[in-house]
Amino acid sequence: MDNRPIGIFDSGIGGMTVYRQLKKILPNENYIYLADTLNSPYGDKSTEELNKLVDSNIKFLMDQDVKSIVVACNTASTLDLESKMREFNIPIFDVLQAGIESLEDEYKVIVAATKATVESGKYEDGIRFNHHDTEVIQVACPKIAPSIEFEDLENEYIQNIVDGYFKGFEDQKIDSLIMACTHYPIWEEYFQKALPETKMIDPAKRMAEDVKESLKIKGLLRDEIINDKEMDIVYVSGDERIFEKKQKNIFGFNIKICKKV
Ligand code: DGL
Repeated sequence: MDNRPIGIFDSGIGGMTVYRQLKKILPNENYIYLADTLNSPYGDKSTEELNKLVDSNIKFLMDQDVKSIVVACNTASTLDLESKMREFNIPIFDVLQAGIESLEDEYKVIVAATKATVESGKYEDGIRFNHHDTEVIQVACPKIAPSIEFEDLENEYIQNIVDGYFKGFEDQKIDSLIMACTHYPIWEEYFQKALPETKMIDPAKRMAEDVKESLKIKGLLRDEIINDKEMDIVYVSGDERIFEKKQKNIFGFNIKICKKV
């Protein structure tokens, strides 16, 4: 048993969709979340830039004495996390693998993601490896994560942005769409309106199950009952007030927000 917190990071608010699922599945754990909004969006960064940011995020969370790290960012999950796990000697979970594993035997699938995730080809390769006959259509949606992170848009305008990416797919019998950026489940209702017949997949659900199973096998689950004083903490590298307002509006978690210094 290990009573230390679980570390989570993302470029910003998107990873809270993963935190939400983890809280449901592992309510007795304590969490420390790093929102790297100063460097957001990650989706237009090079592999070299992403490696530097991810290494620094892992180091920061390890300094907070976390027992494992959940990479709640698909873009960061395109990196070689196996070697980071060896280098830093800590269990690391990535949301991208969970996204691939969330699929059943679909015929036609859209992977909606950031530019960097699409360019990495990781989803396409992973899905093809498991499901040879599935047709994978990758759609990069570069506007979505920054809009969720930094803007307050009217519903109609949000729908226009989402529709713009999926125009023409309504008649193509798309079985599922993987929301392969952790920000996208925040706009799930708009994705669903754009493609009403398509099943929306949030990889965070599968990921939370995988984290639970793996911590259990490794003997790392917490055995102390959580008390009211032990609030989960979010460290924000950019403006913590913007984050606080967003998280209240979207999720409403009772969580402590601190500036990362
Ligand atoms: N939420 C992240 C992802 O899952 C990053 C989005 C961004 O910062 O571009 O890819």
